[in-house]
Amino acid sequence: MKEILEAIERSAIRIKRAIDVKDIGYSQEQNSSGETQLQLDIQSDLIIEEELSHVASVHTIASEEKELPMLLNEAGHYFIAFDPLDGSSLVDVNLSVGSIFGIYEGEFIGSKLLASCYVVYGPRVELVFAYEGTVKLYLLQEGEFEYVKEIHLGEKGKINAPGGTQQFWAPYHKAMIDSFFAQGYRLRYSGGMVPDLHQILLKGGGLFSYPGATDKPEGKLRQLFEVFPFALIFEMAGGQAIDGTIRVLDKNTAHIHDTSPCFFGSKHEITVVLDVYGRN
Ligand code: F6P
Repeated sequence: MKEILEAIERSAIRIKRAIDVKDIGYSQEQNSSGETQLQLDIQSDLIIEEELSHVASVHTIASEEKELPMLLNEAGHYFIAFDPLDGSSLVDVNLSVGSIFGIYEGEFIGSKLLASCYVVYGPRVELVFAYEGTVKLYLLQEGEFEYVKEIHLGEKGKINAPGGTQQFWAPYHKAMIDSFFAQGYRLRYSGGMVPDLHQILLKGGGLFSYPGATDKPEGKLRQLFEVFPFALIFEMAGGQAIDGTIRVLDKNTAHIHDTSPCFFGSKHEITVVLDVYGRN
């Protein structure tokens, strides 16, 4: 696990450099979800692939930017799913973006997720690593990631980050989101999953939602690369992650690019979601 974390750290430093200097013109390539890939996406994907290929314990990798998983080492036992540059369309407007990693044991399913990591490329570069029940925050300082603190969620937060297109939401979902605002929750939503969830984690709690809706019944966010890694982080930080009715890490994955509706939050907000979705 130590070698994997070090490979992620090296990748993050190289990706940050690419973000800072790279001409971010769009490439002609499309990823498996049909989105036009940024040069930066492709570059970040290759950086991570290269760094992980040096780690003998990594058996297979799966990237949000690649159609199929890639075998690296038959003798390895970790399966790593990653989104190399999540929210990359925000780079041109200079909002924060991130890389997300899920480290699975033996196969790509939620119940085998052992550790998760994400990196936020913002005004500062921060890394969060969740493993063996604790969530640790690191800050990039002069080329090295320095430990800052453990992250713990409160029972209840003040942030509401509602994803998706409102016109397609179920009426009960809209009513629930409105009721959080009516109770004083503040809107915080940049359109980048990594900084939006990072904010909830570091400000002690709240709710991030990306529901199933009429335009996207299974939501938008991908299970292996986005939803499961953050679910583990929220659970280890004392919060919860559900799809509306069940724990996301208990969900099955038929295809590596499957998506899932998702709600990440501290305990109070998730109890509200379970109540609303349980009745509808
Ligand atoms: O999956 C990519 C992503 O940019 C996430 O980082 C983010 O949470 C989500 O899409 C935003 O989607 P939308 O623009 O539909 O709110």
